[in-house]
Amino acid sequence: MEIVIVANADAAGTVVADIVDHAVRSGATTLGLATGSSPQSVYRELARRHRDEGLTFAGLQAFLLDEYIGLPEGHPESYAQVIRRDLVDHLDLDADRVLGPDGAAADPFATAIAYDEVIVANGPVDVQILGIGANGHIGFNEPTSSLKSRTWVTTLSEQTRRDNARFFESPEDVPRHAITQGLGTICDARYLVLIATGEHKATAIAAAVEGPLAAVCPASVLQMHPHATVVVDSAAASRLRLTDFYKTVADHKLQT
Ligand code: GLP
Repeated sequence: MEIVIVANADAAGTVVADIVDHAVRSGATTLGLATGSSPQSVYRELARRHRDEGLTFAGLQAFLLDEYIGLPEGHPESYAQVIRRDLVDHLDLDADRVLGPDGAAADPFATAIAYDEVIVANGPVDVQILGIGANGHIGFNEPTSSLKSRTWVTTLSEQTRRDNARFFESPEDVPRHAITQGLGTICDARYLVLIATGEHKATAIAAAVEGPLAAVCPASVLQMHPHATVVVDSAAASRLRLTDFYKTVADHKLQT
């Protein structure tokens, strides 16, 4: 795993945007998109490069990590709407090629299985962007989720509901369930890039990067992936022990 430590959220966004930019210009066809606050600096930078530097996303396929269950279609906080607002509206990505699980479907269990099959049929995802929850979740795979899970119906922890309450009018409005790509599904991607900023992510980052591989910290599954990069600002890196080593690696990186 590669650990990149930068000064702040904007710098982290630029590093991840560089990775996506390089992949897209080198022929990537499929992107995995995360929602939440963490990737917003990435998406702002990608939108700028599209606008100012001709970076094109035309023809690319994109898959969302997850979706709340039970929000009516078109709800502003559904992840389908969030990604449209935060990213798709600002790029030349074809909106019909940005797929996510349908959280309003009558049968979420069948929907989860079908979504996994679509990802497998169109995958692998070339670059998967990830955030991390304060409890170490990725997608909506909460602590103790199977490290090999496929896309599934999950129950949100109270911590995650509290953390996400800021997006809703009242805390009770945060759905209790979601469809999320499983950890096995996520790890099918060729390249995982996780971005985390802020002191409130420091404990989760330390557990994911330097703790044991354990379902109690779902993001620790990145330790098993052959190509994973974790991009953090100094606040999110503040509980890491091996920061000197990560800086040494970054300063002496051999280019392929
Ligand atoms: C949310 C999403 C995750 C996201 C995480 C962190 O619940 N399901 O995909 O990475 O929690 O969110 P944020 O980036 O807003 O802190």
